[in-house]
Amino acid sequence: MSAIAKLSLPDGQYLELPVLTGTANEKAIDISKLRKKTGYITLDPGFVNTGTCESAITFLDGENGILQFRGYPIEQLAAESTFLEVAYLLIHGELPDKTQLYNFVERVSLHAMIHEDMRHFFDGFSQNAHPMVILSSMISSLSAYYVEASGKASIEDLEINSARLIAKVTTIAAFAYKKSVGQPFVYPRDELSYCANFLNMMFAVPAEPYELDPEIERTLELLLILHADHEQNCSASTVRVVGSSMANVYASVASGILALWGPLHGGANQQVVQMLQQIHEDGGGISKYIEMAKNQNSEFRLMGFGHRVYKNFDPRAKILKVVCDRVLNKLGVNDPLLEIALKLEKTALSDDYFIERKLYPTLDFYTGIIYRAIGIPVNMFTVMFALGRVPGWIAQWKEMHEDPKQKIARPRQLYVGQSERSYKPIAERL
Ligand code: CMC
Repeated sequence: MSAIAKLSLPDGQYLELPVLTGTANEKAIDISKLRKKTGYITLDPGFVNTGTCESAITFLDGENGILQFRGYPIEQLAAESTFLEVAYLLIHGELPDKTQLYNFVERVSLHAMIHEDMRHFFDGFSQNAHPMVILSSMISSLSAYYVEASGKASIEDLEINSARLIAKVTTIAAFAYKKSVGQPFVYPRDELSYCANFLNMMFAVPAEPYELDPEIERTLELLLILHADHEQNCSASTVRVVGSSMANVYASVASGILALWGPLHGGANQQVVQMLQQIHEDGGGISKYIEMAKNQNSEFRLMGFGHRVYKNFDPRAKILKVVCDRVLNKLGVNDPLLEIALKLEKTALSDDYFIERKLYPTLDFYTGIIYRAIGIPVNMFTVMFALGRVPGWIAQWKEMHEDPKQKIARPRQLYVGQSERSYKPIAERL
């Protein structure tokens, strides 16, 4: 017999609620019939205790610092796999065989160009527009070119639309960068790998050849893998909410990009480096900043620290700390910000405020230093996060559509405003 939770309400109603168990023995109380049966709703600002779906994509155990995509530990994928293989895994549920991978990679590289008319859209943005705005607008605009993309996830549709999205997002991102530095756009090249093609579009110029550094290419591959999905975070939930209204996958992913942009989510990677830079310019002392972060009257937070789900080391941050050291050494980069970051981390991890609240560094704490070392400009950091996250958003959108229990996302509220009153003509208002 399956477990039940017993709920007794102040007005004497009594309800038995089914208790569901996840793969790792996580428990969930199914309240889907609560309102219908009792008239009550639940209140949970920020969805701190609320699961919105059953999902088989990503497993995250924040207490023990575990992250798995479709059951595969992130450490193994980071060491052995490629970004496009991980993308296939997330979207299709299984690792591809040789032919499946070949076809997937080929399909992605064939779709990297954007419609030539879209080039002109870039002219409309001011030169200092944040590339995340450009990225989201352009991804949304793809719906205008692929009008057949519907809000329903037929597998044939999704095959082509996911290849287009994963491919074109790199071209759009690189064009947004070129726009910001006033350089000519560099078109995609099919013969290059996914990451090599992106780096070429970002950094090649007509005046001289661009020499690709394999160390940078591999580092980028790894960064994209680590960002590929992270279960029901703010942007993935946004993609699901928007997609639940039957909006197409381009519109849904464009909304996810905007959710990601916020400094409490993906925008944190830009904020971390800006914070480290500020500390550096301020003489490099960290105690003032640690005190500010602990002061409840200050709005300052230690960016790149703390996570809703991780109450232990973020496993991605563990991988990145090692990568950061390796990449800086290999590229011969001596970044004073790394020293400040390591001091901040050490101090915060031995400070009661951070220990009591289980605030650990997340992946954003290290990515910025690595992006700087491989030449990615600060305002592109969150765009890099988005490039990595596209397969995850597609997988979440697809799973949502395939779930027979899925309904349009439409939360309730507890209304606490004025009760009914009569309209007063303006002349009678004081
Ligand atoms: N610096 C100082 N204090 C912090 C921090 C921080 N970075 N993060 C949380 N706290 C404190 C917070 O003030 C609160 O203290 P108290 O219990 O005394 O009121 C306690 O820790 C719990 O924090 P919360 O804000 O209630 O936790 P949350 O789960 O709602 O927020 C968070 C999670 C990520 C928004 C938050 O930790 C934060 O603002 N961190 C800095 C921004 C950041 O790095 N975001 C990237 C997150 S990882 C990438 C991603 O997946 O998006």
